[in-house]
Amino acid sequence: MDLRDKRIVVAIGGGIAAFKAVEVVRELQRRGATVRVAMTASATRFVGPITLTGLTGTPAVVDLWDPRYAGEVHVELGAWADAVLVAPATMNLLGRAAAGLADDVVLATVACARGPVIFAPAMHTRMWTHPATTHNVERLRAVGAAFVGPVEGPLASGEIGMGRLAEPARIVDAVEAALRPGATDLEGVRLLVSAGPTHEDLDPVRFLGNRSSGKMGFALAERAAARGALVTLVSGPVALTPPAGVTRIEVRSALQMREAIASRADEQDAVVMAAAVADYRPSERAEHKRKKAGEVQLTLVRNPDILLELGERRARLGAHRPVLVGFALETQDLLDNARAKLERKKVDLIVANEAAVGFAGDTNRASLVDAAGATALPAMSKHALADRILDRVRERLGVEAPPERA
Ligand code: C5P
Repeated sequence: MDLRDKRIVVAIGGGIAAFKAVEVVRELQRRGATVRVAMTASATRFVGPITLTGLTGTPAVVDLWDPRYAGEVHVELGAWADAVLVAPATMNLLGRAAAGLADDVVLATVACARGPVIFAPAMHTRMWTHPATTHNVERLRAVGAAFVGPVEGPLASGEIGMGRLAEPARIVDAVEAALRPGATDLEGVRLLVSAGPTHEDLDPVRFLGNRSSGKMGFALAERAAARGALVTLVSGPVALTPPAGVTRIEVRSALQMREAIASRADEQDAVVMAAAVADYRPSERAEHKRKKAGEVQLTLVRNPDILLELGERRARLGAHRPVLVGFALETQDLLDNARAKLERKKVDLIVANEAAVGFAGDTNRASLVDAAGATALPAMSKHALADRILDRVRERLGVEAPPERA
C-alpha cells in the first residue's frame, strides 16, 4: 500500500494499449491510490469512459468543455493530482506534450501538473525509434518528466519489437519511484569520471593535445550527481563549468591524470574514463621556449594507459570494484575494436563512438559493448547518453533502483 493517500491522474492516450490502462488503474488502487482519469478523444475509441468512470467512481474526463466541470477542468485535474501518469503515451501525444500544446484535457492536465509526470509510451517500433520521438522524449526528460518503458515484445501488428507498453506493475512502480522524496537511484555511489583532453607539454608555451571538448565527461558528472552519486571529476584542460555538487580535480597531462585517478580509484564504486588521454608525450619538456631551428624531430614516448592499469589491478586483486567503463573512439571497425578493448583492458563496458559524430558537439551516437554483446543506441544528447551509461553502471553495481528514472 505504498500509494496510500496519493492522488493519481491516469491520462490515457489513443493507442491499442489503452485497454491496459484499466489494469494500471486497478493496480494503482490496489496500492492505495485514489485515481481519476482523463482521456484523449481517440483513447475513447479503444476503451470506454464508462469503464473508467465505473472503476474510479468519478467521471472520466474527455472533453475540455464537459459541463460537469464548469470552468477549470484543464487546471483542476493537474492541481488535484500528486502525480500524472500518461499511459499509454502515443507518438502523437509525446510530440504534442513536448511541443507544449494543451489543446485537450490530457495535455492540459500534463501542463498544469504540480507533481511529477510519468510517461508510459506504447507504439509501433518504427514510431518509437523515429528521430522525432527520440527528440521529444529528450525534451520531456529535460523538463523533468519520467519514463517507464516501452519494452520489447509482441506488438499489436503481430511483429515483435520495441514499443510495447511496460507491464502495469512496473508502471505503477515508476509512479511510486517518482513520488518518493528525493528519489535518486545512484544515492551514495562513489563515481570518478575523467573528462577532456590531456596536454603534453613540449616547452613552457607549446603542447601536443587533441580536440576533446570534455562535454561527454561533464554530462556524465552532471547526470550522476543529479542521480545522487558522489562525483569526482578529473578533467584535463577544457572550457566548461563543472556541474554543481561535483568535486573537480584539474590536471594537464596524462601523467597527472593517472596520478589523480590511481590515488583515488580504490575508494570508488565506479570509474568512467571519458577523457581522451594522449597516448604519447614528448620524451622531454624543454625548460625554455624552443627556438626556431630548421627541421625539428620530436621523440615521443608512450603514456601509461590509465584504464588498462585500473583493469589489470582489479583483475590481480580478483575484485569487482570499481566498475570500469571506457570509451573507444574509432574511425573503422568500431565494434570489433571495442570488443578487443573490453577484453584487453579488462573493463566492464566500452562506449564505442564513431569519431565523426561525437567529439565537439552536444549529441553523440554510440554503442554500448559489454561481455553480453553490443547495443547500438540512436543519436542522442550527451546527457541522455550519460544516463544510459549510468544505467549500465547501476546494473553492474547491483544497486537497488527504481524501474525507470526521470
Ligand atoms: O586504447 P584507447 O585509447 O582507444 O582507449 C580509450 C579508453 O582508454 C578511454 O576510455 C580512455 O579514457 C582510456 N585511456 C586511458 N589511458 C590512455 C589512453 C586511453 O585511460 N593512455
